[in-house]
Amino acid sequence: MKKVVPSFLVLILFLWVNLIQARVTGVCSNCHTMHFSQSPWPQIWSSEGPNRKLLVKDCIGCHSNTSSETIKVIGPPGAESRIPVVYNTIEPTYSEESIASGSSNTLAGGNFYWVEHVGDEYGHNVISHADNVLTEAPGRNQGCTNSCHFSLYSWRFPWPNSEGKGCTSCHTPAHHKAGSTTAVADEEDGWYRFLARRHAQGPDSANRNVIGLEDPDWQQTVSPNDHNEYWDNWTYGCDNGGISRFCAACHGQFHSTRYGPWANGGFKPGPGGGWHTAPWLRHPAGIYLPDFGETSKYNTDGSGPEGVTGPYNPIAPVSRQNINTFTSPSDTVTVGSEGDMVSCLSCHRAHGSPYPDMLRWDYTKMIAGGGQGSAVGKGCFICHTQKDE
Ligand code: HEC
Ligand code: HEC
Ligand code: HEC
Ligand code: HEC
Ligand code: HEC
Ligand code: HEC
Repeated sequence: MKKVVPSFLVLILFLWVNLIQARVTGVCSNCHTMHFSQSPWPQIWSSEGPNRKLLVKDCIGCHSNTSSETIKVIGPPGAESRIPVVYNTIEPTYSEESIASGSSNTLAGGNFYWVEHVGDEYGHNVISHADNVLTEAPGRNQGCTNSCHFSLYSWRFPWPNSEGKGCTSCHTPAHHKAGSTTAVADEEDGWYRFLARRHAQGPDSANRNVIGLEDPDWQQTVSPNDHNEYWDNWTYGCDNGGISRFCAACHGQFHSTRYGPWANGGFKPGPGGGWHTAPWLRHPAGIYLPDFGETSKYNTDGSGPEGVTGPYNPIAPVSRQNINTFTSPSDTVTVGSEGDMVSCLSCHRAHGSPYPDMLRWDYTKMIAGGGQGSAVGKGCFICHTQKDE
């Protein structure tokens, strides 16, 4: 017995470390070059540089792949680095099923493949050109011109404040951070997926940083109990905010409580307020699923009792108000005022998808009534459980 207990503990520790580790691994020279002059120049590095922080490539250089594999491994055996890929130049696979896997399966944020190869409406334009249709973030209610509120591609401000172009409009990287004592990715980990207030890694706890549970393979393999856990709440201010609040930094009018009940209707907090004191004027986001009605039967066929949900479905994920109580991903969904929320990521991918408006599923297949089409119980019907009947 003496021997079994410690190795069991080691196993636990190993799983634990895997769960919370956002930090990079591998030999320094996988990713850094001291003088940007090495000869012969290693083939896996791009010739564009030198780059900030002595890196061998820029963000896209490292996070893209010329094959359809969505996690690429570089470096010598035993000292490899594992890089999550957000832009494949060959189309990755995309599943609308709640269980998916495979080395080419699109990661949680989606992929920039479709915006680069199909059309501007399939993703955020950050890689090769600005959006030819949208001249600002739809729903924008703040932000100066020449900023990321208008374009994620153009330079935000002239040198030396030019860091805001592209990926860093949304991410404030901290690749060497990790070692958190909590399962939830927070300040110690560089925040959830480095979604931190622009240019401000650090405690800065009063300021718009996102927390959450990070799936160790970025949802390359995904199922109802193997996924990221998103955090959301309905407050909208300068405090740390949930994932909908994060998107609303540029798309402010689409967050349900941005203007309280005024712009989007629906939810009205405070005395005398509550659910449905006003009609919704835009789809709710950052709002809990009510404990009545068809959406209280999340991911069921809609015939059962109100408030009884089916399992978490990563195609239309809910986000958690009480994320700090989570130590691992859960397939349980709860409704009501303390329960889970509909967020921007319930319907959209953050980077891009095979569908216009970066939607998580094919909107043209959502056909109301009569059980028509191939999408019964999918997409919108995961929450609107009776609209496909
Ligand atoms: C898998 C890629 C990777 C490996 C391996 C790696 N780094 Fe980094 N490193 C990065 C990236 C990306 C940054 C960019 C800035 C950031 O995110 O903070 C960075 C930033 C840094 C920084 C500046 C920011 C900071 O956190 O202080 C230092 C110093 C650094 N690395 C040192 C090292 C050393 C030393 C090694 C080897 C022991 C190493 N790195 C291995 C990817 C890597
Ligand atoms: C030298 C290669 C390299 C460069 C350059 C690089 N990254 Fe990374 N990045 C990595 C690796 C490796 C990981 C995976 C770390 C891990 O295993 O969790 C990573 C992880 C990430 C993640 C996910 C973090 C998480 O919680 O899993 C984000 C977001 C990210 N990088 C954004 C960026 C941005 C934005 C830039 C440009 C400013 C950038 N990276 C530049 C290698 C790189
Ligand atoms: C830093 C600012 C910023 C943030 C944060 C942001 N967006 Fe955007 N978004 C934009 C801009 C600018 C455009 C228009 C240009 C483009 O598509 O790149 C846009 C366009 C879009 C579009 C329309 C795509 C198209 O081309 O038709 C959708 C959908 C969208 N964003 C969803 C989201 C979601 C979901 C989030 C949160 C994960 C988010 N955005 C976060 C700036 C932002
Ligand atoms: C509009 C904001 C936005 C922009 C621009 C953006 N990201 Fe992300 N990124 C996110 C969000 C939000 C997530 C978390 C997605 C999730 O967990 O569903 C994410 C996740 C990631 C991850 C983890 C893998 C995954 O799919 O979850 C990596 C790596 C990453 N981003 C890198 C990049 C790089 C590199 C760029 C530039 C080419 C970039 N991001 C541009 C918002 C953005
Ligand atoms: C219930 C699903 C759903 C939710 C939740 C949702 N969206 Fe959308 N979004 C859509 C659909 C569907 C479209 C396509 C256009 C339409 O029907 O308005 C769209 C379109 C957009 C567009 C493009 C609008 C344009 O004018 O081109 C942006 C930007 C956007 N959403 C951002 C967001 C943000 C930010 C959030 C969270 C605050 C959010 N969405 C929440 C389903 C959703
Ligand atoms: C994650 C769950 C979720 C998903 C996915 C979802 N919705 Fe909703 N939807 C809700 C909730 C919650 C409400 C508010 C219900 C209420 O007020 O009783 C709502 C309300 C609505 C309303 C009515 C607003 C009102 O005034 O009552 C419409 C229309 C709607 N959704 C359409 C859609 C469409 C179309 C899609 C797919 C693009 C979609 N929804 C996807 C959760 C969702």
